[in-house]
Amino acid sequence: MWRASVITIFPDMFPGPLGASLAGKARAAGIWDLAAVDLRDHATDRHRSVDDTPAGGGPGMVLRADVLARAIDTVAPATDDRPRLLTSPRGKPLTQARVAALAKGPGVVVVCGRFEGVDERVIQARNLEEVSIGDYVLSGGELAAMVLIDACVRLLPGVMGKEASGAEESFSDGLLEYPHYTRPQLFEGRDIPAVLVSGDHGRVAAWRRAEAERLTRERRPDLWAAHAAARDGPSARPA
Ligand code: ADE
Repeated sequence: MWRASVITIFPDMFPGPLGASLAGKARAAGIWDLAAVDLRDHATDRHRSVDDTPAGGGPGMVLRADVLARAIDTVAPATDDRPRLLTSPRGKPLTQARVAALAKGPGVVVVCGRFEGVDERVIQARNLEEVSIGDYVLSGGELAAMVLIDACVRLLPGVMGKEASGAEESFSDGLLEYPHYTRPQLFEGRDIPAVLVSGDHGRVAAWRRAEAERLTRERRPDLWAAHAAARDGPSARPA
């Protein structure tokens, strides 16, 4: 079973959306499991403090290395081979490729970042991999942890209804997904593109491919450049 352990000062936020829909059903079916661990349970003082003021001064609070290390060692002792992630806006951007690799492994340990940050020493000492879910700042890492776990869980064997629905979706081939249509044939004066009702599977596939390429070129020049580079191979030189 794929196991996600989350270390957080807001354990009540979990499972949250991970208890509903696809992920919730998969968890009920025993495909994966989730444990939310309260960081405060690993504090040692009377006030159960998990943070302190930053060395060198400045605003905000920093998560303590000793408290977080204790939580990590309890949740994931050295023999636990799950990757240890820390959600942080300064992390490496999460990609579908990283998600797919995480889904193939035994699970994840996710530390939810908070406050101004986390003491750098525990990031190093416990080999935490910082991951960002995008270039914007959330009020805490919990939502980012849920995003990451949800993206992994839907790739676990037996979770998605049609196995094929994963292969054609956005990012799996480096392109955004083509547009979709269903009945009615006419909606507020707009028709379904004729090719899609032609019954010609070859033309349908070609149209979808062209649309996926057009959307990627228009909306995500970064993805388009990477796709073109992969397609053209290392010998191709920019014009
Ligand atoms: N915590 C706050 N903002 C975040 C982001 N963009 N990604 C991951 N964790 C975060």
